[in-house]
Amino acid sequence: MTADIIDGRAFAADIHARIAREVAALTAAHGIVPGLATVLVGEDPASEVYVRSKNKATRAAGMASFEHRFDADMAEADLLALIDRLNADPQVHGILVQFPLPPQISEAKVIAAISRDKDVDGFHVENQGRLAMGRPALVPCTPLGCLMLLRDTLGDMTGLEAVVLGRSFNVGRPMAQLLLGENCTVTTAHSRTRDLAAVCRRADILVAAVGRPGMVTGDWVKPGATVIDVGINRIAKDDGGTRLVGDCDFDSCAQVAGAITPVPGGVGPMTIACLLANALTACCEANGLPAPEGLTA
Ligand code: GUN
Repeated sequence: MTADIIDGRAFAADIHARIAREVAALTAAHGIVPGLATVLVGEDPASEVYVRSKNKATRAAGMASFEHRFDADMAEADLLALIDRLNADPQVHGILVQFPLPPQISEAKVIAAISRDKDVDGFHVENQGRLAMGRPALVPCTPLGCLMLLRDTLGDMTGLEAVVLGRSFNVGRPMAQLLLGENCTVTTAHSRTRDLAAVCRRADILVAAVGRPGMVTGDWVKPGATVIDVGINRIAKDDGGTRLVGDCDFDSCAQVAGAITPVPGGVGPMTIACLLANALTACCEANGLPAPEGLTA
């Protein structure tokens, strides 16, 4: 058996197009332009690439992009003061401060400083708490993207066994909550779990988010399972270059799974699509309008 490949790139492109249509309609009907502010501190090359892609996608969707860049030696107080100004700015509906931040700046303080209504990363304790309570929330972009792919692949997930491998605050934990919301029976497994392979083999839905290249092999996968690979690991090639691989060993897992996301081209493109979805949701909520269907948890 060979798994269906879940095309995250195509799915994300559809979401970008849908959001652009929703933004155009919002602007035409109400004169509202959703605005997303991004903040990049320092020169981490991966962060530069991510933020540039986010800014470009924001503009392409017809949203306003407010871009803030600072040197790596920026004082924490200055960043917190900027966040206060963005919180108060009615043109800004979403605020994304790119992580990691330099060591003199507390990421926890930054997360707490961003207004919960503009927290398009879904990292604020109030959004995480709402999600855990099963109430409407801004949800972290990567697990929201995984949820959209799962809904598209499986439809109703009621009663399915879901195993989330990884317990990070930005992926594993919110992913488990989202799957609970879909009426799955959810296990969160991690590096201290006894007999990880056996736990994973129970899963109808297996979400791997551990950041360990190729850790999940085909013998960990239940025949026919849906495998969502969140890993984005850059590894060295024999020719001196690098390539991206997931947390799943694609070839062996695809022999057993019913459907699987590739790396690249699976979950990765969904993250930016969901950032725009969250910005649009935040803008609608700020204006007392219903959030567009299918773009939220
Ligand atoms: N750095 C890597 N991924 C992310 C993300 O999803 N949000 C933010 N703010 N920073 C990141």
